[in-house]
Amino acid sequence: MTQANQKRLAGEAAIAYVEDDSVVGVGTGSTVAFFIDALANIKDRIRGAVSSSEQSTAQLKRHGIEVLDLNAAGPLDLYVDGADECDPHKRLIKGGGAALTREKIVAAASRQFVCIIDASKQVDVLGNFPLPIEVIPMARSHVARQISKLDGHPVWRDGTVTDNGNWILDVHGWRITDPVALESELNQIAGVVSVGLFARRGADVVLVGDRKL
Ligand code: A5P
Repeated sequence: MTQANQKRLAGEAAIAYVEDDSVVGVGTGSTVAFFIDALANIKDRIRGAVSSSEQSTAQLKRHGIEVLDLNAAGPLDLYVDGADECDPHKRLIKGGGAALTREKIVAAASRQFVCIIDASKQVDVLGNFPLPIEVIPMARSHVARQISKLDGHPVWRDGTVTDNGNWILDVHGWRITDPVALESELNQIAGVVSVGLFARRGADVVLVGDRKL
């Protein structure tokens, strides 16, 4: 089966987790785009969505799904999002689409996180996909130097500005055997807004195509 078909199946399978009259947390990316299309078919059953990016907001609105503010709508029952990598403990690397900070906030504010992926995202150890870190622009070089001390190789995603007006460093070269510890350590660096490791708060359910892990 093609990667796109697996993404579509995962997006459609996540609809089973949507409860009537709920507000749904919606992630970002090409897999989530399939989920949003499927959500449009049941939009009369939900109150609306909280979105993690301008990209998803635009797609939700095109489908006539109301987009709500998290401060007014939260806490949520369900958050559905994709991932760039997923390990056997359902810990994730996210942020390939630069939406990691809002994704992390909506995930944290949700009772259940259903992660939708195709099989290419499954790994034994996280880190082959460069780890995205959102930084305050004036802190870019400082954060990069701290990461180098941890044997990471930061590359500035030049030209990308996040929805929050910040910049992204993609860190190459890490084999992340203790993602919970690394997430905590990176969060301590001044100027780091958020880290694309979803380890302390990983996924609760992972759908690889329509197969549940
Ligand atoms: C967005 O910032 C990311 O966290 C996405 O969730 C991740 O990159 C997965 O995207 P795809 O579904 O497009 O592979």
